[in-house]
Amino acid sequence: MTLVKGISEMKQLSLQDEVNRRKTFAIISHPDAGKTTMTERLLLFGGAIREAGTVKGKKSGKFATSDWMEIEKQRGISVTSSVMQFDYLGHRINILDTPGHQDFSEDTYRTLMAVDSAVMMIDSAKGIEEQTIKLFKVCRMRGIPIFTFINKLDRVGKPPLELIAELEEVLGIDAYPMNWPIGMGKELLGIYDRYYKRIELFRGEGDEQYLPLNEDGEVAEDHVIKQSSLYDQALEEALLLEEAGNAYNEEKIANGTLTPVFFGSALTNFGIKTFLETFLSFAPSPQPRNSNLGKIDPAADVFSGFVFKIQANMNPAHRDRIAFVRICSGTFERGMNVTLTRMNKQIKLAQSTQFLADDRSTVQAAVSGDIIGLYDTGTYQIGDTITSGKDKLEYEELPQFTPELFMKVTAKNVMKQKHFYKGIHQLVQEGAIQLFKTYRMEDYIIGAVGQLQFEVFQYRMKQEYHTDVMMESIGSKIARWIEDGKADESLSSARSLLVKDRFDRPLFLFENDFALRWFQDKHPDISLISMLG
Ligand code: G4P
Repeated sequence: MTLVKGISEMKQLSLQDEVNRRKTFAIISHPDAGKTTMTERLLLFGGAIREAGTVKGKKSGKFATSDWMEIEKQRGISVTSSVMQFDYLGHRINILDTPGHQDFSEDTYRTLMAVDSAVMMIDSAKGIEEQTIKLFKVCRMRGIPIFTFINKLDRVGKPPLELIAELEEVLGIDAYPMNWPIGMGKELLGIYDRYYKRIELFRGEGDEQYLPLNEDGEVAEDHVIKQSSLYDQALEEALLLEEAGNAYNEEKIANGTLTPVFFGSALTNFGIKTFLETFLSFAPSPQPRNSNLGKIDPAADVFSGFVFKIQANMNPAHRDRIAFVRICSGTFERGMNVTLTRMNKQIKLAQSTQFLADDRSTVQAAVSGDIIGLYDTGTYQIGDTITSGKDKLEYEELPQFTPELFMKVTAKNVMKQKHFYKGIHQLVQEGAIQLFKTYRMEDYIIGAVGQLQFEVFQYRMKQEYHTDVMMESIGSKIARWIEDGKADESLSSARSLLVKDRFDRPLFLFENDFALRWFQDKHPDISLISMLG
């Protein structure tokens, strides 16, 4: 993990080998499901941290170092944990953070465009929650494998069969339980492991931890666990799954239509090792990625990557931004020259950084699947491709995510209009916020997927463009683009406000679900779409 070790390893392994050992993923979940606890467990396995509680900047304040933007300090958002890299069993693992709570923003979605698989964490007592659904949809759209971990088995939760049914019904994905709880809460005895054909005991240690199953799927010896009715129940349910559940299918796991489900408890470190090792054996390494030049092989010599997130003002004194780049081919080396395709601009990548737990170290070499942070003074935009090759390579555009919060925005001081327009347009281009305009009055409406985006917008307008902005909520709205791009202004009303996005594509902002349905009933000929892929 150290730099020196990183470089010597790079020399020994071919680029293909290096790519093959990469596993780049995100953990998606609703706040409080246990994502931080799980991340810490994984980092502990990888030896990247030595104690639990290191990642959680929120309470310990370990990340409150001086060069963060104020808003981050106040909220305790961890920048350094944006990407965590560590090695485990020969794999090089990159975990990309998907901030939740009020920190939810478009960047959370965009991060999912930069991963090769996702781990979906579910609180066993709560089941499928709102934010999980939103993030799941993005993973589904990409067709990446999704691995489910049902957490907090040490507490009484919903019955496992109910959780599986909920997963399939709410998310519309087939599930294959890899293991099955034997009891839960205070009565948790262990998990019945269908995949490894063993029982993993909750309180077991060393060799005592695993009990192999015989051909009949039972523990062979006369183990005390056999006396428990919970064992009988788990066995019965496992049999039911065998007969009536989904068949195990690796192809479906790979294309994201079947999710392997693991049970466990991150807090008590139960089932995590089993999960991690199985996940690593299934999770894909970086795959060829679509571009204007066709699919690009991750082991190709030419370096390339795309910007999926821009984090601003980490150092207010220097107005720094960091552009997060997912490497899609070749090897990155510090100081290399690349072309930013959009501007046909040559850039020397002299200042780069990598994030690892609470330690920020400078990247020397990284390959496909890795994430690098490039210091940015306003050059990059979300979705930009950079490449060391001569060809004008451009990776597929990132989708525009549907905002759910909208504000009408104006400059407080009319004398500052020029700064206001400059700032807003730059921030929109950078991908910090989405901009819409009404047709007649050309009112500015900004849209976001999370409240934090508005706060960052307001803060940056003041800090960087010296403009106080006034924001006025226009209520919770549902955005739907008009598929054929034809705008009929006579259909605009307070309940279905017709606006245009920054590419002049028309869309309606509906007041609520009711207004949307009413409109659809009245105008069945107008096809409306929610997310622009
Ligand atoms: P998040 O990042 O998804 O928001 O969740 P986080 O890991 O912070 O976990 C949320 C709460 O759930 C924490 O408790 C954490 O200790 C607890 N938790 C996580 N995994 C398990 C588990 O397997 N079993 C049980 N019983 N609890 C679990 P907290 O009291 O809110 O925070 P803290 O003060 O303990 O840090």
